[in-house]
Amino acid sequence: MAALLGLFGFVVSALAQTIIFPPYAQSGTPTIEWTLGLGSFDGPKMNFFNTNSAQWWYYDVVSLDLTQSIVITFLGNAPGATSTPATEVPFNFIEVNLQLPDGSLAAALVPSEAIIMTTNGDGSSAVFNQSGYSWTGTPDVSVYTINITDPVNDLYGSIVFETVRREHILGGTLLVVEHLGWANAIPDSVATVTLTYQGQAISYQGRGYHDSNWGDQSFADDLGSWYWGHATFGPWSLVWWDMMDINGNEHQLGYAAYNGIIISNTCAGISVRPTGPNSAYPPVAGLMPDGFYIQYDLGLLNGNLVVNVTNTQSVVDYPGLYTRWVGSVVGGVTGETTYTGVALYEEMGG
Ligand SMILES: *[C@@H]1O[C@H](CO)[C@@H](O)[C@H](O)[C@H]1NC(C)=O
Ligand SMILES: *[C@@H]1O[C@H](CO)[C@@H](O)[C@H](O)[C@H]1NC(C)=O
Ligand SMILES: *[C@@H]1O[C@H](CO)[C@@H](O)[C@H](O)[C@H]1NC(C)=O
Repeated sequence: MAALLGLFGFVVSALAQTIIFPPYAQSGTPTIEWTLGLGSFDGPKMNFFNTNSAQWWYYDVVSLDLTQSIVITFLGNAPGATSTPATEVPFNFIEVNLQLPDGSLAAALVPSEAIIMTTNGDGSSAVFNQSGYSWTGTPDVSVYTINITDPVNDLYGSIVFETVRREHILGGTLLVVEHLGWANAIPDSVATVTLTYQGQAISYQGRGYHDSNWGDQSFADDLGSWYWGHATFGPWSLVWWDMMDINGNEHQLGYAAYNGIIISNTCAGISVRPTGPNSAYPPVAGLMPDGFYIQYDLGLLNGNLVVNVTNTQSVVDYPGLYTRWVGSVVGGVTGETTYTGVALYEEMGG
């Protein structure tokens, strides 16, 4: 076994590749990966960033009692990704949003120098140079660790994501809409948060999520509004992304796993709608729903997954533009057992 593992380790490390993204746009047109190749699922999807092309790696954790959460987004070419003037946001940077146990919220915006990214198997590891933020991932994407040493914001520690159930999406297109890719490396995991923030210990276990998006133009040029989120309830792991593109066409993407077995991974058949008095659809700026009602057609054999998500707390709020919540979940397949659980999710354009 040891020899076998050694051999595997050798083969895998022989394939490890490192790429450096400098903290500025390069000239030319990058080669962008839009369909899934062999390996490198969570790695860079382009060979460099020009002014318009960008990739970002997103992580979140929500505690099982919904009183704490953390979202960390690692952005390469943040101005290009968000169509923010380059004078207003660093080219490479990290955004951290904390929901603290006393109900307060905190944010950190951390500039980075070069991104030094190594891909090994399907996993990636990255150092955002001079920022104090890095992550390491195993080649099979089963364990990811984020390390933070951030004296400016007084934030230190680590977050470990462990995929106890094997939940890797394989095959097919990575295109969400034209110009926008999505690779969902960790749709659900057990996550352990061990941080100190301004002297306060933050320590909990929750559900963790990680994905990456990339594109050759700002996402504001692709999408009008969207509902995105992920939930865990009993044996179910669910990811939804119901969006309206810039031309007003709805696109529905869903992922559902039961005890780690992928039941559905589709570009259709999942509808997400706001609930409560302010449940206009498409979203109207300033009207905040109470939660969301999700219907997911899992096919003839598996039935209809129906989920109610109810907001507990908004954890990021840009009024009239974007809200992120943590919330409770009740759901299951119609006619079968109903489970409760937790979700972290967002609305763009409302
Ligand atoms: C990363 O930062 C270190 C200084 O801490 C520097 O020596 C190194 O050249 C940087 N790497 C890149 C790729 O910019
Ligand atoms: C994260 O920090 C731990 C403890 O300090 C260390 O052992 C590990 O090598 C670090 N990983 C990275 C990616 O920096
Ligand atoms: C979801 O909410 C609707 C409307 O309140 C309700 O009719 C339905 O029973 C709920 N479903 C679950 C699984 O709780």
